[in-house]
Amino acid sequence: MTKTIALTAGLVAAAGLAWAEADEDSLVINGDIEIVTEAEPPAHLDGVLPVIYSGWRFRSDETQEAEMDDFDNPAFLAVDQAQAAWDTVEGEAGESCASCHGDVSEAMEGVRAVYPKWNEGAGEVRTLAQQINACRTENMKAEPYGYTSGDMTAMEALISVQSRGMPVNVAIDGPVAETWEQGKELYYTRFGQLELSCASCHEQNYGNYIRADHLSQGQINGFPAYRLKNTKLNQVHDRFKGCVRDTRAETFSPGSPEFVALELYVASRGNGLSVEAPSVRN
Ligand code: HEC
Ligand code: HEC
Repeated sequence: MTKTIALTAGLVAAAGLAWAEADEDSLVINGDIEIVTEAEPPAHLDGVLPVIYSGWRFRSDETQEAEMDDFDNPAFLAVDQAQAAWDTVEGEAGESCASCHGDVSEAMEGVRAVYPKWNEGAGEVRTLAQQINACRTENMKAEPYGYTSGDMTAMEALISVQSRGMPVNVAIDGPVAETWEQGKELYYTRFGQLELSCASCHEQNYGNYIRADHLSQGQINGFPAYRLKNTKLNQVHDRFKGCVRDTRAETFSPGSPEFVALELYVASRGNGLSVEAPSVRN
């Protein structure tokens, strides 16, 4: 199938021209949790996308299947590990996550769906990773996790599981409006020698193949994502870093204000899709 598209010079250099729409498969996890992988775009997108799709819809059948049952999903080893960490006392305050929050399935239900979000006490936008570390350093007097470490992605995965199937519903107005605008600006900024923005690939060219890889809309409802390529859970800022690097640009650091803003904006492009994390990708 072919499609007429306006390719930038950089993308012509990088991409093959084969094109295939998102597939028609539907995702039900454990035969029980129905995942919305296709939805009406949120109003703030002003019609730039006709439909929003989860990245799952662009993956091969084999990769898709690995996410359809938690026994097959390799990310669940990390979820088990984080459940143990949740119950473990660490740090000088003598607390565990559980000693304050109780059962993770009740305490964290719905949390992943609304992050990044404004933290009133701190007066800042926080990603889930930043909130986890704030609890570790301030409430537990423990060492923070490395931002993209295995401990962090495992804890994010455990917390995300408690929201699976719920619609992503990140706020974009009020105190976060300025950060959201920054994120939007970054999304449309052309980076690197190839002069490509996130939008060049994930808005204008989703459906196209870039080398052997089927381009999705770059949604983050599935993060942290287990990648078959590096056989571990990948933090969303690591994914951003890889994508910016592919444009041959200097990239921002995980946890930097730029990536926090970008995460808020990209999350909001998926408002209406289900939380799908921990997902499986290639
Ligand atoms: C001493 C008590 C305490 C401990 C220990 C603690 N937290 Fe928290 N946590 C809180 C409080 C209080 C809040 C809400 C205050 C805020 O928003 O800053 C919170 C908020 C959160 C939130 C955000 C919830 C939301 O609805 O936005 C997450 C996620 C979280 N904690 C995760 C953890 C994890 C993971 C651990 C263990 C590594 C942990 N917490 C340990 C007290 C604690
Ligand atoms: C040169 C093209 C290109 C550019 C520019 C690009 N990406 Fe990507 N991105 C890819 C490819 C290829 C993949 C892997 C296939 C897929 O999921 O789309 C990917 C995957 C992703 C994913 C994982 C999606 C999922 O469901 O697992 C996210 C998130 C993402 N990109 C975000 C971004 C952001 C944010 C930017 C801008 C900073 C960006 N990308 C720029 C090519 C690009």
